[in-house]
Amino acid sequence: MTEQADPLVRPHMTWQRGDLKIDGVSVGRLVGDYGTPLYVTSVAAFEDRIRLARTAMQESFAEHRVYYALKANWGRPLVEAVKRASEGFDIVSAGEWDHLRACGVDPAVVCFAGVGKTREEIAAALSASVGILNIEHLGELQFALAQLERQPSASRLALRLNPCIEVDTHPHLRTGALDSKFGMRAEEMLSTLALPSWRDCLERRDASGRPLSDAVRGVHVHVGSQLLKGPLFESVVRAVMELAESLIGLGFPIDHLDFGGGLGVPHTGVPLEGADLTSHIAALRHAVFAAVKSRPVLQARWGDGLERCQIGIEPGRSLVASSTVFLTEVLYTRVSSPQHRFAYVNGGMNDFPRPSLYGARHDVCVAHRPQGTPNPLLGQTSLGISGAVEGGAGLQIVGPVCESADVLRRDPGTDELAVVAPGDVLAFFEAGAYCRSMASEYNLRPLPRTAYLHNGSVAVE
Ligand code: LLP
Repeated sequence: MTEQADPLVRPHMTWQRGDLKIDGVSVGRLVGDYGTPLYVTSVAAFEDRIRLARTAMQESFAEHRVYYALKANWGRPLVEAVKRASEGFDIVSAGEWDHLRACGVDPAVVCFAGVGKTREEIAAALSASVGILNIEHLGELQFALAQLERQPSASRLALRLNPCIEVDTHPHLRTGALDSKFGMRAEEMLSTLALPSWRDCLERRDASGRPLSDAVRGVHVHVGSQLLKGPLFESVVRAVMELAESLIGLGFPIDHLDFGGGLGVPHTGVPLEGADLTSHIAALRHAVFAAVKSRPVLQARWGDGLERCQIGIEPGRSLVASSTVFLTEVLYTRVSSPQHRFAYVNGGMNDFPRPSLYGARHDVCVAHRPQGTPNPLLGQTSLGISGAVEGGAGLQIVGPVCESADVLRRDPGTDELAVVAPGDVLAFFEAGAYCRSMASEYNLRPLPRTAYLHNGSVAVE
C-alpha cells in the first residue's frame, strides 16, 4: 500500500495525512458540528474565480458581463458573492428568478434563459425588466412581443442560435448539435423573421411606442458543458457573427452577444492560479475580434474596440465546482472477492448524483480519520465485518440508495485512497457544481446540507 501523496489540494484547501482543511477549518470539526453527509463550500474560493473571470473580461472587452449560471449552485452565500462582485446571473426558471428576487438581486443584471419557457415566465421576466431574455423558440418570441405590446419593459431579447456543432463531452451535456432541443438554426430564424407576417408584427409598436423589432438586441449561444478539449470558439463565434450581421441586415439593433458557459473542470480541479479561465476568455477575445475585423458592417456598428456591443459569458461549473467538497462517512466495508471490495457510505446518489447520472469521476480522499479508529492497516476485526479495505482497482464506494447505480466512485487510485475503514470521512472534490443543486429526496432521504465558510464564520443551509 502506498502512502497517500498530496495531489488533492484545491484552492483554499490543505490536506495532510487524512486531515483536510478548508479555509483553515478541519473537516473533523465540521463533521463533529454538522454531521454527514455534508457539502462544505469555501466562499472565498468561489469569489477568487469570479474575480478572475471579471478581470479577464474587463481586460478583453469594453462592455462585458459575467452571468453566473445559477443552476450550478444557488446557495445564498454564492448569490451574495456574485452581487458583491457586481456581476450577473444566468437563470432558467421562474423558481430561480424568485430566489434571486428574494436575495435582492437587481433584475438588470439577470439573463433569463431556458428552453420551453411558459407564457407566465416570459411575462414575469419582462414585467420585472430582467436585463436579457433569451429566446429559444419563435413561439417564445411571439409571446414576448405580445407581452411587450401590453406592458413596457427594459428587457433586451436575445435569440439563441443552435450552430449545429457536435462538441466533445458527455452526450447529455451537448446542447449545440442538430439533434439538440436547444436554440434555433440560423436559417430557420432568418427565413421566418423575413416573412411578411413577421415583418408586419415586428413593425408594430410596443407599449412605450417603439417598434417591436427594437427589442431584439442579442444573439446567444451555448454549445455544451464540461468542455475540456480547448477552445472551439472560432467556429461558434463565426456562426454568431454571421447571424448577428444578418439580423442587423433585417433591421434588428443587435448590441449584445452571449457566448454561454461550458468551460470544463478536470477531475484534478482548477489550477491554483486560474490559468484556465484566463486563457478561455483570451481565446474568446481573439475569436471575437478576428470575426468582427472581417465584417465591416459589424465593425462600423460596434466600433473597432467593440465599445457598442456587450459581450457576455455564462460560466457555472468553472466558477463553483472546486470551491466545494462532499463529505460522507464510511459505515461498513465488505470484501466479496479481492477484486470486489466495497465501502458503504452514508451519502448516496440522491445527495451526490453526478457519478450515477453521467458516470462522472470525482476525486476522493480520506478527509478525516477519527482517533480511536483501529489501525486500518491491521485489516479486518476479529468479527470480520468492519475492517479496513484497500483502495485502488476493485474498490467501489457505494451509497445506501436502493439502486445498483448508487456507486459514488469505482476504482479510486491508491494515490487518492490507499486504504479505507469504517469511521473514515471521505471528501469528494469538485462538488460545487450540479451536485447539491441536483440532489433529490429519492428514497425519502433528506436533502444534504451545505456549510458555507466565509470570513472565519460558518453558515449552514
Ligand atoms: N448557459 C446555458 C444556456 C446552459 O445551459 C448552461 C448549462 C450554462 C450556461 C452553464 O454551463 P457550465 O459553465 O456550468 O458548463 N448537470 C450537468 C451540467 C448541465 C449543464 C446545463 N447547462 C453536469 O452535472 O455536468
